[in-house]
Amino acid sequence: MSRTREFARLPGFRDFPPEEMALRNHLFDAWRRVSRRYGFLEYDGPPLEELELYTQKSGDEIVGQLYTFTDKGGREVSLRPEMTPSLARILGERSRAMPKPIRWFSIPQLFRYERQQRGRLREHFQWNVDLVGADGVEADAEVLAVALDGLRELGLGVDDIRARVSDRRLLAALLTSVGVPEGSLLATYAVVDKVEREPRERIAERLTEEVGLAQATVGGILDLFDEPGLEPVARAFAQDPEVTRRVAEMREFMATLEDLGLADFVEFDLTIVRGLAYYTGIVFEVFDAQGEFRAICGGGRYDDLLELVGGEPLSAVGFGMGDVVLADLLAERDLAPAYRRAVDHFIVVIGDEQASLARRVARALRDAGRSVVYGVRGQSVRKQFSAAANEGAREVIILGPDEVAREVAMLRDMESGEEREVPLDGLLNPSPAVRGEARSAESGGNRSQAAGES
Ligand code: HAM
Repeated sequence: MSRTREFARLPGFRDFPPEEMALRNHLFDAWRRVSRRYGFLEYDGPPLEELELYTQKSGDEIVGQLYTFTDKGGREVSLRPEMTPSLARILGERSRAMPKPIRWFSIPQLFRYERQQRGRLREHFQWNVDLVGADGVEADAEVLAVALDGLRELGLGVDDIRARVSDRRLLAALLTSVGVPEGSLLATYAVVDKVEREPRERIAERLTEEVGLAQATVGGILDLFDEPGLEPVARAFAQDPEVTRRVAEMREFMATLEDLGLADFVEFDLTIVRGLAYYTGIVFEVFDAQGEFRAICGGGRYDDLLELVGGEPLSAVGFGMGDVVLADLLAERDLAPAYRRAVDHFIVVIGDEQASLARRVARALRDAGRSVVYGVRGQSVRKQFSAAANEGAREVIILGPDEVAREVAMLRDMESGEEREVPLDGLLNPSPAVRGEARSAESGGNRSQAAGES
């Protein structure tokens, strides 16, 4: 007995029909262009890794969201929830032989079993850009500049996005000076990371109960976040040499971004802590300027991770930028380019006798790099023209019995409606000039072209 059943997509996962795929390619193309502009090379790794790669150093939040299982060989494995541990593992195997610094980028699909909400799904694509083996704030600033340029490339400006920056070492110095013991720093970060999303009472309760801090210390921590700008912090802790050192470094970081023409996009904000456990220095997140959406991008310096997964001790700084919030923001700002199909030629065949010739013309033009579609056998001329319009054909090649008898074809420019006759021989032997102008059908390139023209 046959049974039928309807299948739906799993919650938090997406399909990418061509129009969604074109938007995805539009993002990826911009990300790739900007990465290359800064000298970064593309890499990838496997989507499945050993579970322990994440349980070691990513932090409890992400470990609670892993898609994990035991494979048929009895290995505990996990779909990758982020790229940074894979990058550390890959470089651990090969960085010794590589010149430093290493500039690598990747656009992996990542999987996290999250509670579904606006901007957070169970699968997303994430542009990862990492600069490995470079100390100093210029490296941190360079990486943040890549992130901001990636967003500028998509049409977002200073009214649309804001990078909020802090430094875990500065936060550690401040927390230590209000009485947080060193052993409780990581647990404290995990709580204060939520200081913007949870009410103060809840934060205080968690710091007392989960981290085990004294009342006075909890009060001191909350005071820190009442005025989270750089100047109030610098003033209040002017006597603390570690705080003073970190504040000076932060000013240098800001000055570097000013040289790079990006100062207006960046502000210091002590509430930026980052959820992942491995960050050791400057950390940042990029948000929409109105603060309506979740973070578009997050990153920072992580100087211990490569050594922790078995590589040479190498400093590193990088970020991950997701496609989900970014696509929402582009749609809201009307910056998602209109979807447009495009093929170079559609061959309209009048009479089945021309079908073989149509295939030979298509073969010749495709070999010359052109995109070519032709009508379904037996379709009326009217239907073929409407199919040509549906395909977004730039030019229609009409092969009718009278023209073919005279060894010509009629070309119609679909935009202007102009028609002209060309020798069949020319279509069957396209000139090298045609080869040089190759266009691809429905690629991201066409989308940005469409955007440029609209
Ligand atoms: P993350 O903050 O976990 O950092 O993720 C970076 C970005 O990925 C987020 O700002 C968000 O745009 C996007 N994202 C994360 N989770 C989801 C989700 N469930 N659905 C949609 N988008 C999401 C990291 O993953 C670090 N490994 C980034 C990094 C690279 N740090 C250094 N190098």
